[in-house]
Amino acid sequence: MEKCIHDILDWYQKNKRDLPWRRGCNPYHVWISEVMLQQTRIETVIDYYHRFLQKLPSIESLATVPEEDLFKLWEGLGYYTRAKNLKKSAQIIINQYHGEFPHEYHELITLPGIGDYTASAISSICFQKKKATIDGNVLRVYTRFYNNDLNISLLKTRKEIGKKIEEIIPNESGDFNQALMEIGEVLCIPNGIPHCNRCPLHSRCLAGKYSNYALFPKRQLKREKKTLEYTIFIFNFENTYAISKRNNEGILHQLWQFPNVEGTLTKTQVEAYLNSKRISYSKIKEFITYTHVFTHQKWKMISYYIELGKPIGNNQMLFLSIDKIIKDYAIPTAFQPFLKKLQI
Ligand code: ADE
Repeated sequence: MEKCIHDILDWYQKNKRDLPWRRGCNPYHVWISEVMLQQTRIETVIDYYHRFLQKLPSIESLATVPEEDLFKLWEGLGYYTRAKNLKKSAQIIINQYHGEFPHEYHELITLPGIGDYTASAISSICFQKKKATIDGNVLRVYTRFYNNDLNISLLKTRKEIGKKIEEIIPNESGDFNQALMEIGEVLCIPNGIPHCNRCPLHSRCLAGKYSNYALFPKRQLKREKKTLEYTIFIFNFENTYAISKRNNEGILHQLWQFPNVEGTLTKTQVEAYLNSKRISYSKIKEFITYTHVFTHQKWKMISYYIELGKPIGNNQMLFLSIDKIIKDYAIPTAFQPFLKKLQI
């Protein structure tokens, strides 16, 4: 691959996408974009990125943003711990680094939410440090290029490939890293036929030579996701609906949700449940069924629309109009179909 470096950098200069965080190389901007890009596609990230920086243009503003506002900006991106960690890291940069973004990998990696990939991305893209960004795209390009059989699901493999790339990484490390990722995203695509004729690695790539790109990368078979079942209650009182804050445990903690219980309850079981909680209702209707797939689990949700005679007097539930919920509360994607249905 070393012999292709010149062609890779040349390809990048001519073909790189005009992405908003590439103008300048402000580490704050690169950081936000890289965190958003973990698990989310570039096309989706662009709008979120603009909205985020419009509201929070500086590290200071991020360090002091109320959590509710932060979550609202993050709504739909998922993995809300990422947003919380952004704020925590911003506070550390303000307090321990006097507001100046650290340049070194070993400093960056100590910040909450910044792992090997993000520390390498920021330090190479903004400060030309010779660190490799190993994401799924780079692993695909690399293993295809060398017809490399290593199992990329293993951390050991990622480390090994990172080390190999760092042995050859040029001074333009940020451009080189971004070029490899971009080649993986737009040319050496995961599904479908790669665009080898336009690839700067083509002359020396073994997968190109043998047309065996489909065999790489090798990975472990995925484990079956755990399925959890829930019954969601859409409590309606006049023009308002109940939402409650999730507790501190499990995923999506501290975000807002429609009240729910574990398990799939029949209408009769729902009635019994409401009676046991002394919740007085006038009507119960079956509402939508929806399955949400997370990284490690699946939620199978059924729901009931329950008209109440009066709001439930408990301090964990808020009764709000749909407009108010949409405007001011971060509702995770898993619950969005219920919200959407209520808007119709
Ligand atoms: N994917 C994630 N970050 C990227 C970057 N900086 N360039 C290209 N692809 C990316």
